[in-house]
Amino acid sequence: MEQYTNKKTSSASMENISLLYDSLKKEILSGQIDTVIESGTFLGLGSTSTIAQVFSDLNRRPQFLTLEASWINWTKARKNLKKYQFVNPVWGKSVPRDEAIAFIQNDELLKNHKNYANIYIDGGDDPTAFYLREISGEFGLSRFSFINKYYKKKEEKDRPEFFQGENLLRKYLLKFKHKNPLILLDSCGGIGFLEFNIVIGTMKDAPFYLILDDINHIKHFWSYEHIKNDPSFRIITLNTDAGWVFAQKIR
Ligand SMILES: C[S@@+](CC[C@H](N)C(=O)[O-])C[C@H]1O[C@@H](n2cnc3c(N)ncnc32)[C@H](O)[C@@H]1O
Repeated sequence: MEQYTNKKTSSASMENISLLYDSLKKEILSGQIDTVIESGTFLGLGSTSTIAQVFSDLNRRPQFLTLEASWINWTKARKNLKKYQFVNPVWGKSVPRDEAIAFIQNDELLKNHKNYANIYIDGGDDPTAFYLREISGEFGLSRFSFINKYYKKKEEKDRPEFFQGENLLRKYLLKFKHKNPLILLDSCGGIGFLEFNIVIGTMKDAPFYLILDDINHIKHFWSYEHIKNDPSFRIITLNTDAGWVFAQKIR
């Protein structure tokens, strides 16, 4: 695999997102999308703001939840997203911590990453440790990981009124299953395929829209393979250079 930091343009946020704006606008209008569930807010300035802006320009106010595991990112995102009052940034984990750890420790792609060419990965020689830190809410802060670990625990304990817990992706998928939601998966690189399988397993035959970021990366390499080979998915827009796909599950 290739280190993601060696990619010509490597960014934590979704890239070349203006292309997505137009196709989203069309689908929001024709498909009547009024529910959004996103995993991986980061600072709220990439995918979250782009999608929110489309709704805002159409004068629509969707039910819009975006999940972020890091307290620091979440507090910044809350400020950055204030102008979109319909966006609800949630501090918590998309997937139960133990399930995420087990997935990262047993993932064949991660264990044998040296055998796969042309897929991006993070974390140098130890991607497993890198992704385990990320699901703990330490994304972008690894230089200070010791200090962060202390604060992370303190934050969750000290602020129970803000921390929404774990397993939030399943919780909100079940709540909005029959609302034809737009689901965007862009959280931790090591659990992208786990989140994708949770979506497939929870939504079953219910229709939904799906945006995956990082399809050239370990995050959504397998998820995108699934979509390409499953006739119940219609690909609406694909940007292979930037590494994202916008699709619809029809039946
Ligand atoms: C690649 S960034 C998201 C970028 C964002 N979508 C954008 O376009 O700007 C991934 C984010 O997911 C967060 N994250 C990691 N694991 C998570 C989890 N289990 N649940 C929720 N957020 C998580 C990280 O803290 C990080 O801020």
